[in-house]
Amino acid sequence: MSERIESLLAQMTLEEKAGQLNFPVGDLFVTGPAMITAESAEFDDRIRNGTITGLFNIHGAKYTARLQRIAVEESRLKIPLLIGADVIHGFQTMFPIPLAEAASWDIEAIEESARIAARESTAVGINFNFAPMVDIARDARWGRSAEGAGEDPFYGSLVGAARIRGFQGDDLSKPYTVAACVKHIAAYGAAEGGREYNTVDMSERRLREVYLPPYKAAIDAGAATVMTSFNEFDGVPVTASKFLLQDILREEWGFNGMVVSDWASVPEMVIHGSANDTCDAAKQAIEGGTDMDMMGEAFIEHIPQLVQDGKVSMETVDHAVRNVLRLKEKLGLFDDPFRYSDEKREKTELRSRKHLSAAHDMARKSIVLLKNQNQILPLAKEGKSIALIGQLAENSAEMNGCWAYFAKPYHPISFLTGIKEKAPALTINYAEGYHLYNETTRYFDEAIEVAQNSDILVVAVGEGAVMNGEAASRAEIGLPGNQLSLLKELKRLRKPIIALVSCGRGIAIPWLAENADAILVNWALGSEAGRAVADVLFGDYNPSGKLPVTFPRSVGQAPIYYGSRTTGRPYDGDYSEPKSERIYTSKYRDEKNSPLFPFGFGLSYSTFRYSNLQISQEQITAEDRLRVFVDVENAGEVAGEEVVQFYIRDMVGSVTRPVKELKGFKKVKLQSREKQTIEFSLGANDLSFYRRDMTWGYEEGEFEVMIGGSSESVLTTKFNLIS
Ligand code: NOJ
Repeated sequence: MSERIESLLAQMTLEEKAGQLNFPVGDLFVTGPAMITAESAEFDDRIRNGTITGLFNIHGAKYTARLQRIAVEESRLKIPLLIGADVIHGFQTMFPIPLAEAASWDIEAIEESARIAARESTAVGINFNFAPMVDIARDARWGRSAEGAGEDPFYGSLVGAARIRGFQGDDLSKPYTVAACVKHIAAYGAAEGGREYNTVDMSERRLREVYLPPYKAAIDAGAATVMTSFNEFDGVPVTASKFLLQDILREEWGFNGMVVSDWASVPEMVIHGSANDTCDAAKQAIEGGTDMDMMGEAFIEHIPQLVQDGKVSMETVDHAVRNVLRLKEKLGLFDDPFRYSDEKREKTELRSRKHLSAAHDMARKSIVLLKNQNQILPLAKEGKSIALIGQLAENSAEMNGCWAYFAKPYHPISFLTGIKEKAPALTINYAEGYHLYNETTRYFDEAIEVAQNSDILVVAVGEGAVMNGEAASRAEIGLPGNQLSLLKELKRLRKPIIALVSCGRGIAIPWLAENADAILVNWALGSEAGRAVADVLFGDYNPSGKLPVTFPRSVGQAPIYYGSRTTGRPYDGDYSEPKSERIYTSKYRDEKNSPLFPFGFGLSYSTFRYSNLQISQEQITAEDRLRVFVDVENAGEVAGEEVVQFYIRDMVGSVTRPVKELKGFKKVKLQSREKQTIEFSLGANDLSFYRRDMTWGYEEGEFEVMIGGSSESVLTTKFNLIS
């Protein structure tokens, strides 16, 4: 209870209360279907008369200070504004897209990336950031796979919590911390067919086991706000889901922050067919647990009348308004509404050398080496000439990735620039090769000629920035356009091919897996993309990234993830057994079950050897902790980093259990020939799950322990949990 808030509430008219719940987009960037077009002058009026709580997707120290001044000097109650934005992977210093950062398995670096995003955005007036997105993504068709931490609930929880700590620090009122928004509650990543905004339907068991943990971890880390998801859950659009927004979020998890709808998800309930009209939608949403209406204009339009007619209680409205005002208070806005609009910091902090250097570091940590036949990489900085082929190698705008509208398209260092900078003595012949967004073969001849005149072909392929992110689901998840045709032409030259693959999902690249000599996944690496790629190409950085999502062989395998169930008729053979033995098994006629590259996979220029897996005891009770040890040796010639991964399997349960569950990992740096013993431990809570009766707890029995450098290559042993 805050006196200031209670006294404000006592003075507010119903319109002013509804105004605090109304959050429209500003006039700089529109990130959804434009329903309302307002001139900026109109915003001034709306701030003056208290019908908006703030604006989002605007920035600028001067501009936001001007708006705050109108709010605190010219509106009746002088309530400062929330200024929101989607600062998803950097404001102007662009870090790699979130999925790429997750490939670093470096929790501290991820936290630091969020901290820098907060520093830059708070300098320009932003105090409320619509991130992190922690939706689990197991279907590579879903474009928003790019915005999260991948497929695993355990890992996704650690990453989500790190991002909250980075954005919010330990005190929201500091001038360089921003209110985070964990989104999108809930299960948005499980859209049917991977199609954006599509229906979600799943068991409560799966919801709780797989999809909820990262949101919960973010709430436990102190997330100030939550955004509802566009999808329905169990037949109810989430924006009105009492089950998710109240029973789980507030009652079970004790969340006491603010819940914002997604863009127009309140009025969209009419289109879902679960509300009669916008008025009904507003009533259902606020009663369901949504405090603030983003872009819907439904609360401002209908809530006063709904209260007057006795259809929504004043208590419900006050609860929502309190949540909003409390957020403003926590941000320190009542004490100093201008603390986030700092012209001096705006000049010195945006794209500062320090920030760009952190982005560079993060970018190289995010690169994943998937193949390196005959150790073709790293390349020498002198000698053999290089043909650098592909629009993606030269177009810096694409390097910014999805959700990058605050950065300039010319900011990022392209691969071409990065490579030239790194190896000035090398002959580098560039050709565009293909066009990202059409099917022309116009550039093929030039590319082939350039390739003929060079020794090694470095071909940048994959997705352009807008091919993943929001509203970017794909029905085909391979290389877009005619990139594959070009690659096939190039292959005929019988020269080594090194593929640089841009993507924001588990992209299906079977041809490359078979035919390229080396594959580097470089996602969208942000401002310092070219430098990071050059570091890895020429061995100044030894790649250490590991996939946070499974890479499928083809779209037909989607959804595919390592933690699947065994089924009653599993198939993990290699198709060499008699057909009669495999016919009635769980598989495709025309595709393998195995992924192209599994979760957790990534090579290095070092070779890591695992041995001597030991456990402290073969039986543990619920009071014990099992300790697990493994020796990891760098058997290669250069120092390198390895992500040592620790999985378990519950062999028999009252309900079926995943064939593997990540329970821990450690990223270790090992000098050449160095060997270290790595230790993990686990107790009964790590072995617990939602049992057949939906209670959370463990069951006695046998467990398998698996340790290795990916979800597939593992040493195993077993232990028993006894009473
Ligand atoms: C819709 C997206 O789903 C959400 O993630 C984003 O924050 C809002 N638009 C605002 O841009």
